[in-house]
Formats: sequence, C-alpha cells, structure tokens
Amino acid sequence: MAKILVTGGCGYIGSHTIVDLLENGFDVISIDDNSRSTPYALDGIQMITGKKVKNYQVDLKNFDETQAVFQENTDILGVIHFAAYKAVGESVEQPLMYFENNIFSLINLLKCVKEFHVPHFVFSSSCTVYGSPDSIPVTEQSPVKKAESPYGATKQMGEDIVRDFSGTENVSSILLRYFNPVGAHPSILIGEVPLGKPMNLVPVITQTAIGKLPKMMVYGTDYDTRDGSCIRDYIHVCDIAHAHILALQYLINKKNKTQCDIFNLGTGNGVSVLEAIQAFEKITGVKLNYELGARRPGDVAAIYANNDLAVRTLQWNIKYDLTEMMRTAWAWEQKLKKDEELAKQQALLN
Ligand code: WQD
Repeated sequence: MAKILVTGGCGYIGSHTIVDLLENGFDVISIDDNSRSTPYALDGIQMITGKKVKNYQVDLKNFDETQAVFQENTDILGVIHFAAYKAVGESVEQPLMYFENNIFSLINLLKCVKEFHVPHFVFSSSCTVYGSPDSIPVTEQSPVKKAESPYGATKQMGEDIVRDFSGTENVSSILLRYFNPVGAHPSILIGEVPLGKPMNLVPVITQTAIGKLPKMMVYGTDYDTRDGSCIRDYIHVCDIAHAHILALQYLINKKNKTQCDIFNLGTGNGVSVLEAIQAFEKITGVKLNYELGARRPGDVAAIYANNDLAVRTLQWNIKYDLTEMMRTAWAWEQKLKKDEELAKQQALLN
C-alpha cells in the first residue's frame, strides 16, 4: 500500500484526513509533537477505521529526529504537511515563535523530502494569504496581499518556499488554501479540540451553547456587508479532508499542470457571523447568549471562495452543508462534555 506521511496527524484537519486516507487504501504514519494536540485523536481514528496509526512524537524543528522518521520509513510516497501554529491573535503577540515554528519545521521537512526522494508534497495553506481581497469571490489568481498577521505571513512564505523547492527538485506539490474549516466527523469520534479559550467562531459558538463560555461577542456589526457582520466561507472539515486525497491522487496520476498547483478549498458560499449564529440556533434549538461588540483587529470584512478549479480539476464534490457543519460541531461539543464528566467521575472513584 502507498505510504503517506501526515504531519500534525493528531490535529483537527490532520486526523480527519488520516481517516479518509485509510478509507481510500493508503498506509499512513503521522509526525505530531502533541504540543497543540492530543494522541487521543489516534484512538478516534482507530475506532472509525479499525486501523492503528503510528504517530512519531517528534518536533519538526529537530532535524535529526525528523530525519530518523524518514530513515525508518524509506517508502513514503507523499507528505501532507499540516503541522503549524495557527492562532492569528497569538501570532501577533509572538511573531518570532510563529516564524521559527512554522518556517523551520517546513524547511526541515523539505530537506528530508529531498534526501529521501519523496515524490509528492501537499501543503496546508489558507485563504489568509489573500489578505483583504479587492473583489470576492477570490480565485487562485486573486492577488496575494500583504499578510494581516505573522500567521498569515508564514503561510505566504510557506507557499513561496514550497513553490521554489518544487521548481528545482523532482517533487510535485500542491498548495491547498483552506477557507474556514468547521464541524466534526459524522461518527462524532473525532473533531476539533481547541487548546484553552477558542479563537474561532464555531468552537466559540458551541462552547457558549454548552455553557463553557458565559457569553460570546460578535466582533463588529458595522462592516459593509448585508447585515454588518463579517462574511466567511465555512466548510466542513470532512470536505477539506477529502480534497487532500483527491489532490494526492491528482499528483500520483501525474495530472498536475505545474510542479506546484494551487486550489481554493471553500464552498463558494459566504455566511455572515449573525447568519452562522442564527443557523446554529435554528438547527440545535439552543439560544445563544451573544452581544454585539467592537471589531476584532486584523479581521477582513468579507472573503469567500471561487472553488471552480478544485471542483472541476480534482472532481471535488462538496457533501456537507451549513446544517451538517453546525449539527456535527454541536454533537462533538456535547461529546467532549460527556467525556469530561466521565473523566471527573473516574477520578473520584480512583
Ligand atoms: C470568523 C469570523 C470573527 C470569534 C482564521 C484564520 C484562518 C483559519 C481560521 C487556520 C470573524 C468572528 C470570531 C468570536 C466573532 N485559521 N468571530 N466572535 O479569522 O476568519 O480565520 O481562522 O486554519 O486561516 O485566518 O476565523 O473563526 O476566528 O473568525 O465574531 O468569538 O467570526 O470576527 O469575522 P478567521 P474565525
């Protein structure tokens, strides 16, 4: 079976992609230092697929330890690189930590891809690279504008590094620009596990709904949008995950047009913050305690994808709508709460 290395395999998008890879006949190993994830995601993967995935708990900033993984697995056909820090606000407070982690990790990984002649590389990028777009929806040809945060800058630099590397080495690569990944696997056995207080809208919604957060803020209702709140392209994490399998198969079958093709991974539908809140309340029947507040620095008013290229070229069919995104996100939050209560009861018994 073709072996794929997934970095960040214990993380949100990484774990969902591993499930899809296994279900599509690939053999998978993971590198994840679990600094921002838990190995428990591997249990969920095993429960869904019946397969145990080996995770190397290695920091990609440590070249020797990263190289050792490749020495032990000389048959890696492709690498999907998710492992990176991704909190926009944190990156503004700690830029050096973001540049060191996200860029050094990538360079070490590409050195190993070169040394061990790995033919295919998929890079996890983000719509953040578009900054505040001049026109929407954005296509892959929309200009990459000055990054709004160090996090966004690491994604832009990452794309340039992968593009230049693929141009000189015999490696075919793909840059996948995610819009806003949300939701959980329909089995509700894996999902997003925010570390500490969540930043992103949907985990904030579900934690507010379950009572972990007393209330939530809508950051700005004076934008030039249909209801004044920001518009984003929310996309189910399983649709994002499946696009990675299609991207790998596209490279393996040598369908790529260049050594570094780019694809937008969004639904093509823009949803405002207030519309997302209303959708959640309608689908779950839970009334959210939210207040209308000031804008959050760094937010763009509106961005959503033109996804024609991915749909047409990768034959990518989006399966999940906003209802499924909110339903699975809510079901996952309820599962997390049940697990926490079980853990507390067990602690009392021990
Ligand atoms: C969405 C909208 C907020 C929280 C970032 C990264 C992107 C990706 C996803 C990594 C905004 C509003 C949020 C809240 C709110 N990161 N909001 N109240 O900023 O679009 O994208 O995260 O993969 O690369 O840029 O996502 O979910 O943080 O915010 O009103 O408590 O929800 O202002 O308009 P964002 P987000």
